[in-house]
Amino acid sequence: MKTYKIAVIAGDGIGPDVINEGKKVLEAAASGFKLEWIDYPFSGAHYLKTGELITEQALEEMRKMNAIYLGAVGTPKLKPGVIEKGLLLKLRFFFDQYVNLRPVKLYEGVPCPLAGKTAKDIDFYVVRENTEDFYVGIGGNFHEGTKEEIAIQTGIVSYVGCERIMKYAFELAKSKGKKRVTAVDKANVLTNVYGLWRRVFNEVASNYKGIETEFALVDAVTQWFVRMPEHYQVVVTPNMFGDIITDLAAVIQGGMGVAPGANINPNGVSMFEPIHGSAPDIAGKGTANPIAAILAGKMMLETIGEQKTADKIEKAVETILKEGKIVPAEFKGKATTSEVGDAVKNKLEK
Ligand code: NAD
Ligand code: IPM
Ligand code: MN
Repeated sequence: MKTYKIAVIAGDGIGPDVINEGKKVLEAAASGFKLEWIDYPFSGAHYLKTGELITEQALEEMRKMNAIYLGAVGTPKLKPGVIEKGLLLKLRFFFDQYVNLRPVKLYEGVPCPLAGKTAKDIDFYVVRENTEDFYVGIGGNFHEGTKEEIAIQTGIVSYVGCERIMKYAFELAKSKGKKRVTAVDKANVLTNVYGLWRRVFNEVASNYKGIETEFALVDAVTQWFVRMPEHYQVVVTPNMFGDIITDLAAVIQGGMGVAPGANINPNGVSMFEPIHGSAPDIAGKGTANPIAAILAGKMMLETIGEQKTADKIEKAVETILKEGKIVPAEFKGKATTSEVGDAVKNKLEK
């Protein structure tokens, strides 16, 4: 039987809890193929114990696998950035996962904080550029620790980087039957980088005549997502703005615990994760919502070519949420992390 090798980095905080549920559901759903999980211990906690972020050997092993499945990393015991840059961003850059795809979909039965908005109003994709911008790690400090300290950190935007993410966004629109692509930026202030971003967008858009296009400034987008989410179909955004607007988008689709993401290299190894972090405020309580991790697993199956099983998982999630018998703590219900996972597993069509 066909076997896919999946590297698993469960990580910190609620990461291991939600990844467990994801594995449980994916394993139960898999039909006609098998999943082989290769667990890696890397996390903030592992770094504190061993001084190891991620090894070259592990990266080389992962290069030969079908995908990476990641929970979340980050711990308040570590200086911010150590594990986030040393592990998560390392992987995104190492495997050149230039697309960060974040579907924003409000499922029926999920409480939405926006008055008057229902499932039919919120169903779009954010395509976040994932390898450029302020994330490249170019910068430094001078006179560190003194009152004379200065710091610099540079964002970069390249023609090639814009072109590939924008092409991905338009192709996604085409394949999903979406009719509009919105490009987010801050071209009214950061004229150099986002001037280039706009130029490339117009060039790429000219090859997709049937698709409507528009530019939106990132500050305005935050209010439009709240006031008029139904307007959005595919949104393409630079890395940092994409990070910010997808936490907002996660909340309009019901919460951090329902928002999945995929870090995709269309020609290489991709990585799938919920968009939320390690949630230290609820870690260890058993109340984290695993739906985002399960849906990230569903995106993983879709990407490796197991669409039927992916659809089956989404259907089970959809049914659970719609029925409203098992309600995750995140939606003020009583269901624990594993109860939600079990409910999804038990709803899978045979
Ligand atoms: P967070 O996403 O961990 O949490 C934000 C809020 O959402 C918290 O109140 C949390 O309880 C809630 N939440 C998150 N996931 C949930 C779930 N599945 N179910 C129910 N509630 C959920 O963001 P944060 O608190 O800013 O960051 C915590 C740590 O995680 C930091 O170290 C940060 O750097 C890291 N982080 C990691 C990733 C990642 O590994 N992909 C992503 C974001 C943040
Ligand atoms: C995310 C996270 C990461 C990001 C951090 C932890 C590096 O917030 O995946 O959204 O900014 O991309
Ligand atoms: Mn984020």
